[in-house]
Amino acid sequence: MSMNVAIDGPAGAGKSTIAKAVAAKLGYIYVDTGAMYRAIALYLLNHNISSSDEKSIEAVLDDINVEIVYENQAQQVILNGENVSKEIRKEEVGNMASATSVYGCVRSKLLSLQRDLAAKSDVIMDGRDIGTCVLPNAQVKVYLTASVDCRADRRYKELVEKGENPNLEDIKKDISERDYRDMHRDIAPLKQADDAILVDSSDMTIEEVVVAIVDLCK
Ligand code: DC
Repeated sequence: MSMNVAIDGPAGAGKSTIAKAVAAKLGYIYVDTGAMYRAIALYLLNHNISSSDEKSIEAVLDDINVEIVYENQAQQVILNGENVSKEIRKEEVGNMASATSVYGCVRSKLLSLQRDLAAKSDVIMDGRDIGTCVLPNAQVKVYLTASVDCRADRRYKELVEKGENPNLEDIKKDISERDYRDMHRDIAPLKQADDAILVDSSDMTIEEVVVAIVDLCK
């Protein structure tokens, strides 16, 4: 049986950075499920389909093919044959992903892709519902969080480093709205699984969190 590690938590808690580092240390495959929701969101944005139009979203889902491939151990997201790994990182795509991941039709489309990856390989998978819904039998479950202020500060610094001119208050507002939506949707909301270990990264370095999770896996 493959080893499955689930990491859930709100946007900006450091899940992907930490999961990538743990995957590298343990030789597991890192699966970023948010990227899959982002790929669907990108398709919808490109086709001018509103996030509130569930009927139209359901109608086009069969036209959307999301594939995950690995290049030098890095996950690449392929949307209808095109590598969209960079494009899906934009803020508007993340917000669209949050708004459209509330629909059952969108979630069920991605569920089998996620479970297939976890059945085939040792994975560390991050998202919102991995420990609660996607991989309820994962051997290790972590709920990784950090305060809104701390997550906003990190995001602000990241954007400044990229040469952008962000507004800290806007980032805080965005993060709070996204948290609320992800935690209050009807299907598979973000919450800590009963058997998940809570890690608050607000006052921890990345290395400290990585070491803590690697120890749990061992
Ligand atoms: O982790 P992220 O910021 O890339 O995720 C983007 C959005 O996708 C997130 O706000 C909610 C949705 N998502 C989800 O509903 N379930 C997951 N397992 C992963 C992401």
